[in-house]
Amino acid sequence: MRAYTPLTITDAVLEQMADTPDPRMKEVMEAAVRHLHAFAREVNLTPAEWIKGIEFMTKVGQACTPARQEFILLSDTLGLSALVNITHDKTKVEEATSASLLGPFFRENTPTFASGAQIAKKTEGAEVVLFGRITNAQGAPLGNAQVTVWQTAADGRYDIQNGIEEIDCRGIFRTDDDGNYLIRTVRPLGYFIPLDGPVGQMVMSQKRHGMRPAHIHFLISAPGYRELVTALYLSGDAHLQDDVVFGASADLVAEVKDGDPACPIKGLPSIHFDFSLARESEADKRAGRVGADPAAVTAGNGQATKPYGAPPPEIAATAGPKKSGIFSGLFRGR
Ligand code: BEZ
Ligand code: FE
Repeated sequence: MRAYTPLTITDAVLEQMADTPDPRMKEVMEAAVRHLHAFAREVNLTPAEWIKGIEFMTKVGQACTPARQEFILLSDTLGLSALVNITHDKTKVEEATSASLLGPFFRENTPTFASGAQIAKKTEGAEVVLFGRITNAQGAPLGNAQVTVWQTAADGRYDIQNGIEEIDCRGIFRTDDDGNYLIRTVRPLGYFIPLDGPVGQMVMSQKRHGMRPAHIHFLISAPGYRELVTALYLSGDAHLQDDVVFGASADLVAEVKDGDPACPIKGLPSIHFDFSLARESEADKRAGRVGADPAAVTAGNGQATKPYGAPPPEIAATAGPKKSGIFSGLFRGR
């Protein structure tokens, strides 16, 4: 019989896995075992701590429903989604607009709109126009490119946080022959990521503020080009530097301008942003997206329509001076 030590146990596991037929699976699993073991040795993980970790992961799994993906949220708050995203972005075959997180609020079920349509059902918030061009990396326009956008409503919540049947502030558009897109929306707010589950418990126990800067998500695709998953971050937001999920980057910061003469819809503030897409490589076809519609990765468990809860009042109270409305205190003022 072998007697394992804290060091030899790692090689013993790697030996048992040595015949894994899929070479990529073998590489990934071997590295996972080496790093997991190194982590446990480094912190001298105790049995009680290990069980706590397992309890936590169990709660993360139990919190997942077709409307909620707590594992993606965990990956986001640990910076793993951003790391995978940045690493993947560096494999583009040519320079183009950089990627940002898809996040847990993307959904496949999104209505299609004509160019220039308003995606928000309620426009009491500040209306904003989004416009610009989609081009290839050399600047040639991409006509009929698909542009999917989603964002918080003017109250700072995503539709899906109010229930899986709600659909608002998301839409699919097409570019015209010159690659132009034109969308009407409301100004999004910075918001707390969902703090009412185990990931929220973790974030709050680390004394993190739990907020994302105001942003608008974009998913842009055209045949023959690498799909672009990105977001525009509103200039001036207090959390551009310390986004709780590490998604904001300087090249994706966009300014809301009043009276931009280039804006096709007059009399409204607007954001002008041109996106470029890199050619699609063979590897891109297999790489997949960093993130998914929760319904696509979560088998139904009977809680499909359970809405997201609010952050605890003491955390919400730290969010800033905005004090009116039903979500008062939940969202930082602009
Ligand atoms: C979002 O931008 O929608 C998001 C991303 C990561 C975690 C939570 C929300
Ligand atoms: Fe978002």
